[in-house]
Amino acid sequence: MAEVLIAPSILSADFAAMGEAVKNLKKWNADWVHCDVMDGEFVPNITFGMPMVEALRRNTDMFLDVHLMIVKPERYVERFVKAGADLVTFHPEASEDAFGTIEKIKAAGAKAGIVLNPDIPCSVAEKFVDKVDLIMLMGVFPGFGGQKFIPEVMDKISELKRMTAGRNVLVELDGGVTTENAPEMVKRGLDVMVAGNAVFKAQDPCEAISRLKSGK
Ligand code: DX5
Ligand code: ZN
Repeated sequence: MAEVLIAPSILSADFAAMGEAVKNLKKWNADWVHCDVMDGEFVPNITFGMPMVEALRRNTDMFLDVHLMIVKPERYVERFVKAGADLVTFHPEASEDAFGTIEKIKAAGAKAGIVLNPDIPCSVAEKFVDKVDLIMLMGVFPGFGGQKFIPEVMDKISELKRMTAGRNVLVELDGGVTTENAPEMVKRGLDVMVAGNAVFKAQDPCEAISRLKSGK
């Protein structure tokens, strides 16, 4: 089994020092950089858009995992890829044409993924499983970092791993990851783990990342 990839969410970093944050992530052996884009409409919070992704791209060669929590993502996906996103994920219920959105992301040259909120069953992913590179499960209702993981989501990891078995599709989990619940996620075969507060609010972020990875 491949080692779980760690994708720290820069939502929990210091917005006035993002260049430093991504440089640190590399030093701390993080794998991806998770960028939370919120529009104040799909979720009750506003974060940042393409200019931030573009600025991060200039400051790091790390894989940029861009999570769009926006209404009608199809309007912007190409611009996020152009800004430097390596992977763009979106919530299918926010899109008027989810399949078209996936196609647009891929045609622009990035990997594409869908995101399932905690109350959306894995069965919704079935029709996408042959089209996407990744399926992401929310461990919390999106909008804010630092929320508590919803324990019922744990079984959805196993369910999605069964659904994606033998396919080239990664399973990612976002929201509420801690060094306490991470081992169980690793045991269930999770491929990518997002961690905001568990990394940026840790006393020793480098150690936190290595603990999350080790699954212990
Ligand atoms: C939630 C975001 C998450 C969040 C993760 O709306 O999509 O990426 O910032 O932060 P933690 O790990 O602190 O829950
Ligand atoms: Zn996210």
